[in-house]
Amino acid sequence: MIGTVPGAETVDVAAGDPTAGKEIFTKTAQPPCSSCHTYGPAGSTATVGPNLDTVLKDKDAQFILESIIDPSAEVAAGFQDIMPKDYGTKLDQKQLADLVAFLQPKS
Ligand code: HEC
Repeated sequence: MIGTVPGAETVDVAAGDPTAGKEIFTKTAQPPCSSCHTYGPAGSTATVGPNLDTVLKDKDAQFILESIIDPSAEVAAGFQDIMPKDYGTKLDQKQLADLVAFLQPKS
């Protein structure tokens, strides 16, 4: 179920486009996610935030979406709470769905 964060309930993560999500991760989001996170599919190697290759392995779409919209809800161990908190307002519903699709590991 998606919907514990205001705004999240209307994001249709199943309709996300991973290719568009990559563009958002590396360029559209301001500051870009890639400026803080390592994530192999994005080709990013920043270490300010957690390595998304490892931390998102066993996470579902809801966790990923909430981490983007409301990063303070659950702060990753060993990291400071410095991730920008306004992506939920700066990115639209489609962009959020695309981002989640890009970050959700396909197994
Ligand atoms: C200014 C640096 C910075 C930027 C930019 C940034 N993050 Fe983060 N991010 C962090 C930090 C630091 C944490 C760990 C603290 C926390 O959980 O809030 C984090 C946590 C996360 C987590 C949760 C990881 C976990 O294990 O709990 C996800 C998912 C995430 N970021 C995705 C993104 C996405 C997607 C974007 C772009 C829309 C982004 N981040 C932009 C710094 C950043």
